[in-house]
Amino acid sequence: MTDDVDRNRRHFLTVATAVTGGAGLVLASIPFLSSLKPSARAQALGAPVEVPVSSLEPGAMVRVIWRGKLVYVVRRDKEMLARLSQTTDLLRDPDSAVVEQQPEYAVNEYRSVRPEFLVIEGSCTHLGCAPLPQFQVGPTDDWFGGFFCPCHGSRFDLAGRVYKGVPAPTNLRVPPYRFVRDDVIMIGADTGVA
Ligand code: FES
Repeated sequence: MTDDVDRNRRHFLTVATAVTGGAGLVLASIPFLSSLKPSARAQALGAPVEVPVSSLEPGAMVRVIWRGKLVYVVRRDKEMLARLSQTTDLLRDPDSAVVEQQPEYAVNEYRSVRPEFLVIEGSCTHLGCAPLPQFQVGPTDDWFGGFFCPCHGSRFDLAGRVYKGVPAPTNLRVPPYRFVRDDVIMIGADTGVA
């Protein structure tokens, strides 16, 4: 059994590495925005961080630092949202039953306030490494896009839900957040969720 898990992990790693190496242009063409950096004062206070999302393309992700933590904001397109239902049977906690991993308003199929936007901490729940976004389908039959943590092989789907049989015990954590406008997300404050 352990051998099977190790073998599967090795296979995924090998194929993922090969695909990443062979398709660098494809990955580079994903319109990731560069990291957004809050002001020094906001960082010092651990204050909420506002993230403008109007220029975030569907299928793209932006990295934000809030209270010293890495947070990913992903604008999921329709196809990415449709793929979420394909992972359900592969997941350890598909219904977000572990309550401390997300605010109550993120206990839903999309783990988000609005399906289009995923806001999630970029910290693997195994040992805290930053999982890599791999939004494309494949390279294995059971990969419908999500986040892959290469150090120990943990895998998460496009809602940050952890796969079965990997070292990470729980889904990625959703931080408190809210929409202050249609195109601005505030991370770190969730009163008055829109
Ligand atoms: S820290 Fe992610 S799998 Fe170990």
